[in-house]
Amino acid sequence: MSEARNCYPGSLDPKKVAGKIIICVHNDPTVSRRIKKLVVEDAKARGLILIDEEEKGLPFDSGIFPFAEVGSVAGFKILKYINSTKNPTATILPTIEVPRFRPAPVVAYFSSRGPGELTGNILKPDIMAPGVAILGATIPRKDDGSAPIGKKISKFAIKSGTSMSCPHVTGAAAFIKSVHPGWSPSMIKSALMTTAIISNNIRKPLTNSSNDFASPHEMGVGEISPLKALNPGLVFETTIEDHLHFLCYYGYTEKNIRSMSNTKFYCPRNSYEELISDINYPSISISNLNRHQDAKTTVTRTVTNVGYPNSTYIATVQAPVGLAVNVFPKKIVFVEGLKKASFKVSFHGKEATKGYNFGAITWSDGLHAVRVVFAVNVE
Ligand SMILES: *[C@@H]1O[C@H](CO)[C@@H](O)[C@H](O)[C@H]1NC(C)=O
Ligand SMILES: *[C@@H]1O[C@H](CO)[C@@H](O)[C@H](O)[C@H]1NC(C)=O
Repeated sequence: MSEARNCYPGSLDPKKVAGKIIICVHNDPTVSRRIKKLVVEDAKARGLILIDEEEKGLPFDSGIFPFAEVGSVAGFKILKYINSTKNPTATILPTIEVPRFRPAPVVAYFSSRGPGELTGNILKPDIMAPGVAILGATIPRKDDGSAPIGKKISKFAIKSGTSMSCPHVTGAAAFIKSVHPGWSPSMIKSALMTTAIISNNIRKPLTNSSNDFASPHEMGVGEISPLKALNPGLVFETTIEDHLHFLCYYGYTEKNIRSMSNTKFYCPRNSYEELISDINYPSISISNLNRHQDAKTTVTRTVTNVGYPNSTYIATVQAPVGLAVNVFPKKIVFVEGLKKASFKVSFHGKEATKGYNFGAITWSDGLHAVRVVFAVNVE
């Protein structure tokens, strides 16, 4: 019974299924939509409606077999209708395009979530990019039944996944490099991160797939905006030394780091994991801020001016109630010949809510807004 409800292989009676539109629930992710579609198609059904809350927003290429997917609310209504009548009917209509879908973007349910497993002292994920229903080149597959009879197998497919958003970011990075050939990878990464979009196409903060505001542990600093990233104003350069320091703080021995990097690198005498927060990264994460001690945690960042040589930046802080965040200095004046400047950010969590607190520091010169997201775990 439950197997037939889920359209498991071998569970459908072709005598009952042939010629009908079949409804399946999708309670068990071990049997994919592709398999369920094949099971229903093999039993000579006319079409398939799948009820699945999570995957409903994730288009599925069912080839030429009529397929629709609905969430639990619509699914409940359909099942109620079926039980209310002796001869329930449904109509299969041609596919239509839904333009300007709202809200968008939304963090997909399958998108990986932070905090990072390796360390809570670097914010993860970094950033997000389109990854749902992406049309891309693919290896043509003979066996998936997607080509209409008499037509060639397509060299393109619609796919979803982090593997689809990664090429978007790669393309954006190449685009920025083509305009600024002298920029290092970390400058490009910083430019993408500090200029990311944080509101959607209905001018509201970005949400996740259950319609709650998305946290930096779901969306990182937001969604890439390649055009804005061409002109970030300031960038955070993460140097080779920063990366080697990371290894020291993380606990690698000097001997191993020297052999990996082929350098005569010395680790700082006092290396411990919390210092990872101090690496010159375009976001800030602090894995443990003790609210019972009166202590505060301070991190340092260094910015490089890539805008007009004579710019003045002012910092503004957006922080949750109870978390005291102070930036020093609050004003940075760049002049000809002075390209780099450092600032400190201190966090004091005595009055803060337990758990992760999120916010941002924005440096603005009237032309650029350089947004640095922070995540602070108050314990
Ligand atoms: C969306 O965010 C809310 C609030 O943080 C959380 O409870 C929920 O599980 C998230 N939804 C998904 C699909 O991750
Ligand atoms: C900055 O320099 C540019 C030209 O180099 C000049 O036109 C502009 O007035 C200067 N701005 C300020 C605020 O000094």
